[in-house]
Amino acid sequence: MTASGFLFFTFLNSPRADRTFGCQMNINDSQKMAGMLKSMGYEPTSDWQEADVILVNTCSVREKPDQKVLSALGEFKKVKNKNPDAVIGVCGCLAQRAGYEILQKAPFIDMVFGTTNIHHLPKLLEEAQAGNKAVEIIEEIDENETELDKYPTIRDNKYTAYVTIIRGCDKNCTYCIVPITRGKERSRRIGEIIQEVQYLVEDGVKEIHLIGQNVTAYGKDLGDVKFWELLYAVANVEGVERIRFTTGHPRDLTEDIIKAMADIPQVCEALHLPIQAGSDKILEAMDRGYTQKEYLEKIELLKKYMPDIALSTDIIVGFPGETYEDYLETVKVVKEVEYDQIFAFKYSPRPGTPAEKLPMTEDPKTLSKWLNDLINMQKDIAFKKNLAYEGKIVEVLVEEEKDGKLVGRTRTNKLVHFEGEHNLLGEIVNVEITKANRFSLEGKLAQVIA
Ligand code: 5AD
Ligand code: SF4
Repeated sequence: MTASGFLFFTFLNSPRADRTFGCQMNINDSQKMAGMLKSMGYEPTSDWQEADVILVNTCSVREKPDQKVLSALGEFKKVKNKNPDAVIGVCGCLAQRAGYEILQKAPFIDMVFGTTNIHHLPKLLEEAQAGNKAVEIIEEIDENETELDKYPTIRDNKYTAYVTIIRGCDKNCTYCIVPITRGKERSRRIGEIIQEVQYLVEDGVKEIHLIGQNVTAYGKDLGDVKFWELLYAVANVEGVERIRFTTGHPRDLTEDIIKAMADIPQVCEALHLPIQAGSDKILEAMDRGYTQKEYLEKIELLKKYMPDIALSTDIIVGFPGETYEDYLETVKVVKEVEYDQIFAFKYSPRPGTPAEKLPMTEDPKTLSKWLNDLINMQKDIAFKKNLAYEGKIVEVLVEEEKDGKLVGRTRTNKLVHFEGEHNLLGEIVNVEITKANRFSLEGKLAQVIA
């Protein structure tokens, strides 16, 4: 294929593409693959009919995304019938876990590759375009996987960018498929990370979002560097105005890290710290490695060092053995911590995980009610937190223009809409909050900071 192809790019089922848990890695992989294809001469397109390459980057963290991909395969068949020359590829966590099953169910798929073979996309694409099935799914980790990091990313957002610092997870929480689909923890060398950050800043990026399945474990496998040291190193790169990171594990969140967060001016006062469940019995069954009390102590420490910190969390409702009393412990934590956001889902048994065979102890209807009650309770908490912004002046990084207004985020990750000139895009400005909505804030420009 010559360099005039098109690309239709989709990531089915990142739980939410604008959010950063679990699948922040998937989103970043998509951005890197887009960069790779662009460097090969492809351009993005949103028209299926025009696409020479269609890539489906999948998530497998719960059963629903899996099902969606499998049922979408029928749609891809129609695309293939209409456009037989298009190469259709499936990658991501589901491909890693069940690539051969996908090929069996959908033999018209041209290309299947796993989570550590992404850097081979150019070679696989060539193979598929020559009319062969291009399949690469390996269980062991490809030691050259970091080749992927060398490609630029194609992102919707010009001013904030993800930077992968660690891949995989060693935690083995009993419900989680990630250690199976993404393998053991592998930290990236600090020099390579800093190089990528420098490149991004030169490209106009203001906010660096360090990502990994478990960023707070950064450096454990390298032995000579800790996560908090990496935070300082990133902050020292000239032009980095904001730093965020996702996802941290409560067990690895040390006081050193919290101190560094408070000490480094660019580190934003926002943290996603998954609790998963409030009951000690369930936390133990999940093998999370902390009790409710220990988790709350970390929250207390965070609030001590950063009183204005915005907190968010992940919650699983209905893990096997969870009783109503156990669930109430989760409710208690949510009320006590007053998160800005929670991401709560019903437990979904995943193939090959230690919890897979445990019998479900509550019926799905009851679990839906528990989940809805929790989500509704959180809506009120979040609104109350937003209301507290009314009348305050906050720093906003202006990210885009939408419906005639500027849109940006506060350091605490709140979306703010306000009126202003186009030339403020990419700037950090002061905005006075005039109105709080449930999911966003409205304001008026106060004064330009930088
Ligand atoms: N069922 C439901 N939710 C899950 N998560 C991970 N595995 C499962 C599962 N088997 C959630 C956790 C995790 C987030 C990425 O997805 O809350 O933090
Ligand atoms: Fe999964 Fe637990 Fe690792 Fe998070 S910390 S990716 S939930 S095993």
